[in-house]
Amino acid sequence: MDKRIEIISGDITRSDADAIANAANTSLLGGGGVDGAIHRAAGPELLAECRTLGGCETGRAKITKGYRLRAKYVLHTPGPVWSGGGHGEAEKLAGCYTSCLELASRYGCKTVDFPSISTGVYGYPVDKAARVALGAISAYLAGHPEIERVRMVCFDERTKRAYDEALAGL
Ligand code: APR
Repeated sequence: MDKRIEIISGDITRSDADAIANAANTSLLGGGGVDGAIHRAAGPELLAECRTLGGCETGRAKITKGYRLRAKYVLHTPGPVWSGGGHGEAEKLAGCYTSCLELASRYGCKTVDFPSISTGVYGYPVDKAARVALGAISAYLAGHPEIERVRMVCFDERTKRAYDEALAGL
């Protein structure tokens, strides 16, 4: 099990990681949930920069500055909406984590924090999502020593338990 992966409870808008991921939608123009929280904490310049990006497809990621956040960068990634599991949801979700980490490496980020992508409004079952997320993160880290720490920042106890169990099963 890769010691660089940590599961913590907390509010990702308070993170001091080099980059935090945002569970966005394909417009990249903000929303509710963690997307709304990150935009509120980063301030209006974040939306202004997002407007220049022309959206992002599900399972990919785009990077912006962090503005008023402690994190230097925000990695915006639209996760898949859960529709039963037979529509490539797992591959798209894995792509969110891999795409964010690829951008983090490219921009010299050594620490990256993630919220639990797609397990809120998008309805992805958190136990399944946790296994996909940690599988993708550990696979990426195996070939990328430049990333020193990746944390899952869990906003509630149920999510924390799901990621703790998934990490133990890696
Ligand atoms: N810090 C960390 N995690 C948070 C925070 C926070 N401040 N706020 C919410 N979360 C958690 C939720 O509890 C959930 O576990 O983020 C996870 C993802 O939930 P959502 O924010 O609903 O994201 P998602 O399910 O990917 O749906 C994305 O919701 O907000 C809109 O614009 C967004 O359309 C997009 C959709």
